[in-house]
Amino acid sequence: MGEQVLLLNRQPDRPLSLEEYRQSGGYEALMAAVGKRTPEELRQLVLASGLRGRGGAGFPAGKKWSFIGKGHPRYLIPNTDEMEPGTFKDRVLVNVNPHLVLEGIILSAYAISAAKGIFFIRPSYEMDAELIERELGVAREAGFLGENILGSDFSFDLVVHRSAGRYICGEASAQVNAIMGRRPHPNKEVHMTDAGLWGKPTIVNNVETLACVPAILRKGPDWFKGLARSKDGAGTKLFCVSGRVNRPGCYEMPMGTPFNEILDEAGGMSPGSELKAFLPGGASTSFMPPKFSQVQMDFEPLKETGNRLGTGAIMVFDQNTCLVGATLNLLDYFTRESCGFCTPCREGLPFIRDLLLRLEHGEGKEEFIPMLKQMAHHMFKAYCAFAPGAASPVLGLLHHFEAEIREHISQRQCPFKGK
Ligand SMILES: Cc1cc2nc3c(=O)[nH]c(=O)nc-3n(C[C@H](O)[C@H](O)[C@H](O)COP(=O)(O)O)c2cc1C
Ligand code: SF4
Repeated sequence: MGEQVLLLNRQPDRPLSLEEYRQSGGYEALMAAVGKRTPEELRQLVLASGLRGRGGAGFPAGKKWSFIGKGHPRYLIPNTDEMEPGTFKDRVLVNVNPHLVLEGIILSAYAISAAKGIFFIRPSYEMDAELIERELGVAREAGFLGENILGSDFSFDLVVHRSAGRYICGEASAQVNAIMGRRPHPNKEVHMTDAGLWGKPTIVNNVETLACVPAILRKGPDWFKGLARSKDGAGTKLFCVSGRVNRPGCYEMPMGTPFNEILDEAGGMSPGSELKAFLPGGASTSFMPPKFSQVQMDFEPLKETGNRLGTGAIMVFDQNTCLVGATLNLLDYFTRESCGFCTPCREGLPFIRDLLLRLEHGEGKEEFIPMLKQMAHHMFKAYCAFAPGAASPVLGLLHHFEAEIREHISQRQCPFKGK
């Protein structure tokens, strides 16, 4: 499994308390940083660590922080929206180690001189929202949060904001709109690092990204880089594995661990199941056939195969699963969740979904294949990353499993019906 950084001392049935977290070095990084190191030093260390964002796009965290604008107050938004199908790592992380998450948030806030944090969480994670609310009270009591943290002149506080519950609210600029009570459309017109929340400099980071920061500061950037197994990788990664495996769950493994080793960690394929395909990083990545079993699960190695690490949520499909049906299932979700702001996504996704639906019900025609290809490529002209993400499983289906689509057409029904 390798060194545990994020899920260290994981308990099966409860979160770690503040005392337990402190026994293994918790809040030491904060005590060594606040008032003793400059925010610029922290930003440089995180940059040197090679930490890349765990929310999907993999943008280097230290680089993003270096763009922070000059205005005040500044805001930090720990993104725990996690509406990407198949993804549940942030929930596990918050439940296992809430104080690691909090320490990461406070240190990151110090690094960008933020005065306020808004912990953005999906509404179905109500228990987790309450857990964070309770534990941030504990952290405040201990002097780690609030006015003049640890006697320094740094003050920072955090509130929990429940999302209204749409997938697009996870997109950083839409999230900022959502918090301000506006319609949650993405907004590419402004740089959030200059003019985000209420027009002030704002950083949105995934909670897993932020939770890496305490260990980077305590043990150093080189140690963090050395955790990874891929050439240019850094750190560990939370992989959540679901589908036809023996032990679905969330596993912390070195960044760059080959897919087949993560599958082994999840107990291998379930009885009677053979690997047919997997999605490497959530619903908005592309299907991969078994010949990619040894691909290293990291940003660059997956990019080289034409795919993405996404959130690291691995979904495993076996020989009895209809991939046209599975793609239709995902497109049902994406079609419903489109924010409707731009035409390719609003009009194109229902069109793709309709073609898949007709294929699945035996009403498919040969010309549907080029139509699917064309429509999936149109999604890359949409306003935000939602639509290309939605097109990714469709493109994977077309690229690797076109024969299965053709079987639906020639047999005039789903070949997996009754299996
Ligand atoms: C449709 C959509 C949904 C997203 N949902 C999430 C989410 O739930 N959590 C998240 O951290 N990032 C999500 N993102 C990515 C964010 O826009 C942003 O890149 C990320 O929060 C930045 O954090 P990071 O740099 O630490 O990865 C989403 C992006 C898109 C396009
Ligand atoms: S791509 Fe979809 S989610 Fe993104 S702005 Fe356009 S309609 Fe909204």
